[in-house]
Amino acid sequence: MSRFTRRAFLGTTALAVTGLAACSTENPLILPTDPLVGRTETARGGTGRVRSATLTAITGQVDLGGPVVDTWTYDGVAPGREIRVTAGDLIEARLVNRLPVETSIHWHGLALRNDMDGVPGLTQARIKPGEEFTYRFVAPTPGTYWFHPHTGTQLDRGLYAPLIVEDPREPGGYDAEWTVVLDDWIDGAGTTPDQVLAALRRGGGHSMHGMGGRTAGGDVTYPHYLLNGRVAGAPMTFTAEPGQRVRIRFVNVGSDTAFRVALGGHRMTVTHTDGFPVIPVDTDVLLIGMGERYDVLITLSDGVFPLVAQAEGKEGAAFALARTGTGAAPPPSIRPDELRRRPVGYPELKAAEPLPARRPDVTHRLALTGGMMDYRWGINGRAGDHSDRSRVRSGQRVRVEFVNTTMMWHPMHVHGHTFQQEGGPRKDTVIVPAGRIVACEFDADNPGQWMIHCHNTYHAEAGMTTVLGYESSS
Ligand code: C2O
Ligand code: CU
Repeated sequence: MSRFTRRAFLGTTALAVTGLAACSTENPLILPTDPLVGRTETARGGTGRVRSATLTAITGQVDLGGPVVDTWTYDGVAPGREIRVTAGDLIEARLVNRLPVETSIHWHGLALRNDMDGVPGLTQARIKPGEEFTYRFVAPTPGTYWFHPHTGTQLDRGLYAPLIVEDPREPGGYDAEWTVVLDDWIDGAGTTPDQVLAALRRGGGHSMHGMGGRTAGGDVTYPHYLLNGRVAGAPMTFTAEPGQRVRIRFVNVGSDTAFRVALGGHRMTVTHTDGFPVIPVDTDVLLIGMGERYDVLITLSDGVFPLVAQAEGKEGAAFALARTGTGAAPPPSIRPDELRRRPVGYPELKAAEPLPARRPDVTHRLALTGGMMDYRWGINGRAGDHSDRSRVRSGQRVRVEFVNTTMMWHPMHVHGHTFQQEGGPRKDTVIVPAGRIVACEFDADNPGQWMIHCHNTYHAEAGMTTVLGYESSS
């Protein structure tokens, strides 16, 4: 790691000049309304199949398996209903806003057309209460994705659901498939996410129940951790036959919690990171940051096994049971040995289809800045300021270096592209540990204006966001 860090630092001086040059030419930005966005979509082709869905964002009560909370959901359930399509299908999703505030849907991880990316004020107009908007886009690549709003702290309510894009050439090799959505939950349990943010801004919010201040894991202490919408005390049970192979798609939709995940008595074979295939590698345990997804294959033993997602650096876990035989269910307090082993790291995960090596045409160095003191997080010292965009041009190889100058880790997400992490797999969301540098590269092939931000909901809302802006090349 230190060798990589040094090299990254050395590369900077020369590359900063490239960044400046790109900036000073001040070519017009390619906006979501640009005809190029539609032409890029047409060039993607597709199956010609249309998959329609209506999602109504509503307020109401949800039963988490005991605790009943007032919250906001899609159609009254959290997680929302999974959308499942085949790569190349056209998704036609009508969002009806019955919330008291504006909203939108962002399709996390998809390299879709820019005007359907769901960022109000950047890629589309605000969808006000009582209004609706229909998203229409081709799902370009197979994988495990998800969707959520992109306004305020709405993601930390119940507004999220998985989006599975099946591979028409999937070799299979498994008997069953489970989607596992992990979440940290506070909404309606005595406080709302907006109150949580206000308390964080007041300085750790020690006066308030539910706020843990500065823990190793995150900024917020949650009363519940959920697996597919259920508290640990009322777990769901996945069933299969002994010896069957199951594909599990893990999605961390949490706002401020990484999860350490294991299935007691089993090893997992990691097959995909953020939807993209890796050379299969075995591990006992996964560490999944907010916004990240992992697909794994597991050959199931005979019995009843705990699926535990321990909240990293916090008390508590999300929990479910995997049952292939008779026997007493383990209690939700169980912590399988696998959780104490070392999680597979990014350097061990090799993309099955790596981005071919190429010299970057432009490098953007993004310093992650800020701290808990006044809860102002930022990028390059600016909080939520989108006037200074990281400019790129179609056809360029783009390098982005996340330089974490803070004392916390941040899961950094790039919209509209799946990058190649240097020394790691293909990802759209990558954990950048405190004090470290993570570099990633991608080809600029999806014109428009794209958010880059921390996927900690509270950090993003406090300013850790910027914009990757395509500009015209002449
Ligand atoms: Cu799931 Cu802008 O992100
Ligand atoms: Cu962050």
